[in-house]
Amino acid sequence: MSTLAIATAREVFDLLREDLVAIEQELGRDAASSVSTITEIAEYLREGGGKRIRPSLLLLAAHVLDYSGPSAIRLGAVVEMVHTATLVHDDIIDGADMRRGRPSPNTTWGNEKCVLAGDWLYMQAFRVALEEKNLRVLDLLIELTQQMVEGELLQIQRLGKAVSEAEYYDLIFRKTACLFSTSMRLGSILAGATEVQEMNLATYGRAVGLAFQIVDDVLDLTATEEVLGKPVASDLREGKATLAVVHSIDHGTARDRQTIQRVLDDKSFEHVSRERIQEILTRNGSVEYAMAAADHYAEQARQALVPLPDSDFKRALQWMPDFVVARDK
Ligand code: IPE
Ligand code: IPE
Ligand code: MG
Ligand code: MG
Repeated sequence: MSTLAIATAREVFDLLREDLVAIEQELGRDAASSVSTITEIAEYLREGGGKRIRPSLLLLAAHVLDYSGPSAIRLGAVVEMVHTATLVHDDIIDGADMRRGRPSPNTTWGNEKCVLAGDWLYMQAFRVALEEKNLRVLDLLIELTQQMVEGELLQIQRLGKAVSEAEYYDLIFRKTACLFSTSMRLGSILAGATEVQEMNLATYGRAVGLAFQIVDDVLDLTATEEVLGKPVASDLREGKATLAVVHSIDHGTARDRQTIQRVLDDKSFEHVSRERIQEILTRNGSVEYAMAAADHYAEQARQALVPLPDSDFKRALQWMPDFVVARDK
């Protein structure tokens, strides 16, 4: 990340500081169950930190349309809890052993307990959301949860396969961008947004979310575990073809395609080394291609903000796509 981005990250954090502190307190209260294992798992993940991007987006959507109040705190906690629940389940599905720089909950508590803790977290999110007494809010959250679960399921069905770009985008919309979009929508609903305003902010969230997952997938190919705080090169080892890999499959030589398919079939680098895959991706300019796609969505996100009145919150929203694309974890 550049120095400029760090300076701006601090500005954005300052802008949202009080709200984010309140959301942490809300998350602390919401993590408490009468069954200690659930509290332990929920607390463990909360302490692990995380970027809190989704609640930040919800807060910015509310503030940019002039709303501030307890509902934004509650719903900010709700989207973070939904996110946390998906992480718990995702690490079981992916067989991951690291999350937020620490052993992932499944390695400590085991899959069975973590499935249930994830379920509990989903329901806790809905319980808190219910306090809004707003059916629109519940409707959006139900639609979101189903999209996310469908996304993870479709992903399982595509494991080991050379997916098309269209399939890739459908998957990442469901599993990631939908939550970004819903966070923006929820913030805008609190502010009593017009239909057009809500749609623009939802478009923004979708675009930021797509850029976010494209970059997450690139980082899986290029980052180190120390920086990322979660396993690297894990997508290929799980048989997942992400955008850069899809690009090399579509545009590389027949041999490139076979080599990549071998890794997807093996779900390991046993017969084809990681370096060999790097070489293929580099020669085909595939990482650059994926990053260009992320830039495209970052620009689409900024465009969706044009009609909004100027404010620090708008500036923060304008900055967010750059942060998402330039981040290193
Ligand atoms: C990880 O999301 C899951 C994806 C959608 C790629 P984040 O990178 O936002 O995770 P935390 O909350 O910062 O740990
Ligand atoms: C994100 O996909 C899935 C979720 C919505 C939780 P990944 O499987 O790439 O997420 P990470 O890389 O494990 O965070
Ligand atoms: Mg995963
Ligand atoms: Mg990933």
